[in-house]
Amino acid sequence: MAIRKVGVVGCGLMGSGIAQVCAAAGFATVVREVSPDVVEKGLKGIEKNLARLVEKGTLTEAQKGEIRGRLKGTTALEDFKDCDVVIEAITEQLPAKRELFAKLDSICGPAAIFASNTSSLTITEISTATKRPERFVGLHFFNPVPVMKLVEVVRTIATEPAVYDEMVDFGAKLGKTPVRAHDSTGFIVNRLLVPYLLDSIRALEEGVGSIEDIDNSMKLGCGHPMGPLTLLDFVGLDTTYYIANIMFEEFREKRFASPPLLKRMVLAGWNGRKAGRGFYDYSDPAKPKAMKF
Ligand code: CAA
Repeated sequence: MAIRKVGVVGCGLMGSGIAQVCAAAGFATVVREVSPDVVEKGLKGIEKNLARLVEKGTLTEAQKGEIRGRLKGTTALEDFKDCDVVIEAITEQLPAKRELFAKLDSICGPAAIFASNTSSLTITEISTATKRPERFVGLHFFNPVPVMKLVEVVRTIATEPAVYDEMVDFGAKLGKTPVRAHDSTGFIVNRLLVPYLLDSIRALEEGVGSIEDIDNSMKLGCGHPMGPLTLLDFVGLDTTYYIANIMFEEFREKRFASPPLLKRMVLAGWNGRKAGRGFYDYSDPAKPKAMKF
């Protein structure tokens, strides 16, 4: 099947990044949000990203125009009816995702392939809201989507092998390196990343080192682009807490258990960079200052 048109549901941080890479890879892309002002906000963000690439000389003004021309914003799911692939990047709530896919199932053609960008929910459970679990995969992208080179392509026990191979190939066409993963909660990246991030909070709680020293240790000692506490602020503490709880629920292993400090920070609304405060204070975003607890 030739993939020509891609639908992206959700134009937030992940959805807008996914829509951008789809359009940049040459696919006609329609991206849907719940209201016109949210669509507008998402598309403005993409335009800003593209303009930055022109400034840096990575894109020409003409290429930017072509990419923007391939992108269409909408609030109507009916605009997905002729999409060959639909990627969902809405809120990490199972009922919302199941409801969405049940609707899409009746709107889209029978050959369309569905994908969820979930980072922690079970693809099998989302796919059974449709009559096409054999044409259903996970496509898990990483933040910031235009920059991070990986996409996890997740298959369930029901995914048809030819559909799966096609989605691996699609991931490569988006300019990403696709890795194959089974539908095991957290897939590959979060299975390894989440215990590491939680352990950095436990190290802080136990007084092993300060916030800056824990971050510098992994940045300068191991060559990570960000220390774990900075990365927690970047991903969002609420998001990490949510993922950790789902993984703990699934595996019942201590390594996935949320440390008490994480829970308290989420309860206080200190969710990281987007909240202006997490392990660092972002009053001056250019110069984050480590918090004192
Ligand atoms: N959108 C688009 N481009 C961006 C960007 C964004 N939000 N943020 C940075 N960039 C671009 C910059 O323009 C720059 O491009 P050039 O090299 O072409 O100039 C490049 O990325 C590097 O940016 P900076 O020089 O400003 O800063 P940096 O070198 O510190 O890189 C970073 C920023 C790419 C975010 C880097 O710090 C990094 O890789 N951090 C780790 C990110 C990570 O681990 N992400 C995965 C999180 S887990 C997840 O997403 C999944 C989940 O399920 C939880």
